[in-house]
Amino acid sequence: MKHVQWPVFAALLWGAGLTGCDRTIEGETKPAGDEPSALERRLDSAQVERGRIVYEKNCQVCHGDQGKGLPGDWRVRDADGFYPPPPLDDSAHAWHHPTAVLLEVIRDGSPAGEGKMPAWQGTLTEQDMQDVVVYIKSLWSDPVYRLWLKMERQSLEP
Ligand code: HEC
Repeated sequence: MKHVQWPVFAALLWGAGLTGCDRTIEGETKPAGDEPSALERRLDSAQVERGRIVYEKNCQVCHGDQGKGLPGDWRVRDADGFYPPPPLDDSAHAWHHPTAVLLEVIRDGSPAGEGKMPAWQGTLTEQDMQDVVVYIKSLWSDPVYRLWLKMERQSLEP
């Protein structure tokens, strides 16, 4: 059952606007500090590098250098009523989403009329999108990555 919950959950988050996210995920708050860890990320460094190139060319203009976001508060809607692009490092909540949802957001963009994330399907290849997701994961700290991995595994459970 769990694997169907994530997309539904994500759809609710999109619907509710991105700022709802932090309050919605009970018990999954960002841990304080960077504990040293022997966590093995299993991210392929060649793929991270390919993803970085895709990111810098297509995403950085809105999501900032190394996913740190742009100046200004991404939690506050712009004058046009839409949210600014959030950071994609672990200071916002890209890490609350399993791989499948991240890929969906990148492929399809914001739901029509509900946001300004462009759809990349047709512009980027499937491989580019998978590479950029791996690059985004490489930006997260170890404690955040560990939490993300737990959620990812739960989302994949039968
Ligand atoms: C024109 C500006 C723009 C560009 C370019 C852009 N994005 Fe976005 N992105 C946004 C906005 C705005 C949002 C927030 C969407 C919303 O409020 O519906 C977003 C949201 C996202 C999210 C969801 C974040 C979360 O916390 O849930 C991901 C992941 C993402 N973008 C990845 C990418 C990637 C990868 C690229 C490059 C291939 C990219 N974006 C390029 C504007 C952009």
